[in-house]
Amino acid sequence: MSDFAPTPFDIPSDAGGKDLGIFLPIANGGWILSKNKPELDGSYAYNRQCAVLAEEAGFDFVMSMSKFRGYGGETHHWDSSLDPVVLMAALSEVTSKVKCWTTVHTILQNPAVVAKMLATLDQVSNGRSGLNVVTGSYKGEFSQMGAWPEGVDHDARYDLAQEWITAIKRLWKEDSVTMDGKYFQLEDCQSWPKPEKRPFLVCAGSSQRGMRFTSEEMDAIFLSGAEPEELARASHEAKADAASLGRYVRTYSMMTVVFGDTDEEAEATAKHYAEGFDEGALHGMMRAYGFLDAEIGKENAFTKKARSSFMAAYVAGSSQTVIDKLTELFSVAETDGLMLIFPDYMTGIPKFGREVLPVLRERFPGKVKVGNHG
Ligand SMILES: Cc1cc2nc3c(=O)[nH]c(=O)nc-3n(C[C@H](O)[C@H](O)[C@H](O)COP(=O)(O)O)c2cc1C
Repeated sequence: MSDFAPTPFDIPSDAGGKDLGIFLPIANGGWILSKNKPELDGSYAYNRQCAVLAEEAGFDFVMSMSKFRGYGGETHHWDSSLDPVVLMAALSEVTSKVKCWTTVHTILQNPAVVAKMLATLDQVSNGRSGLNVVTGSYKGEFSQMGAWPEGVDHDARYDLAQEWITAIKRLWKEDSVTMDGKYFQLEDCQSWPKPEKRPFLVCAGSSQRGMRFTSEEMDAIFLSGAEPEELARASHEAKADAASLGRYVRTYSMMTVVFGDTDEEAEATAKHYAEGFDEGALHGMMRAYGFLDAEIGKENAFTKKARSSFMAAYVAGSSQTVIDKLTELFSVAETDGLMLIFPDYMTGIPKFGREVLPVLRERFPGKVKVGNHG
């Protein structure tokens, strides 16, 4: 555990509680590769409703990813996706409490452009903005638009990201920034408005280099992993690494929740999704991840896991089972929050808000804040 205190961002983890958020389905199909799942069109109308429901249900944040190329297949998985910055500006206008976190790829956008985008989002959202910083990992997504930096390998892309975020942080504070970096050069670069408060920064790097970048520059990390023990190890490692640099990093993970009135019903639903597994979309995903064409169509550990059809960890059960699993997760892993995915957000968000969230708040209350009135 870390001795360092988190910078407050008006979220439960400021005081040891759990930050609960929604991963918005901004790309069609959400996070289930199946022909049998409920239709998720990735439209603005659907995402708007998600954000409104998330706020009503008492969630702390909504986050959108950034995607430029889908996986195809019979379901055309992720072939259509919204721009996350424009989207979060709009969602900031239809909400007033929930934090609105967007995503930007560091290899795509000039830091001075992003400094201004986020300062704008900060005003529109009245201080609720946040940024998921992603380097860009999948070549085809960027080479299709001539934006893949050849000769800049995985770790070097994090060096680039580090210069990028350094430039942005300076532009948010300083009147004029001059910086002669390897990747970015700023010469008397000026950027107003400044955000009232620095936007919340999060990264989902799972590599050693990605984790180090997060320890140095970010407020939170999304850990990959499903099992509580696995997440406990990753969370302790991330916090210890940040602490070695005199910083505090919050740790989050992801969970897909498949509700049923009974566990049997929920498990049957999960099985139904698996039976409709979209093999073509799997091949598209493998191509995006850089599997050699010769490997595609063969069985390996990756395809075996993918065949559940869930792209993230999932729990299928009654509300009580979901409460038990998430209680175990937080108790064992000691993570600071969770970002949720639902097969059908329209029913999943309100049900979670009514039946699960109040129990988690009670079980993991954090410290009561004192001294608010001086
Ligand atoms: C919660 C979460 C959100 C992510 N969002 C995006 C995204 O919007 N766009 C993207 O290209 N990659 C996204 N990623 C991938 C990560 O940024 C990261 O590249 C990946 O986890 C591999 O880690 P590494 O970059 O350290 O190798 C996301 C990953 C997670 C777990």
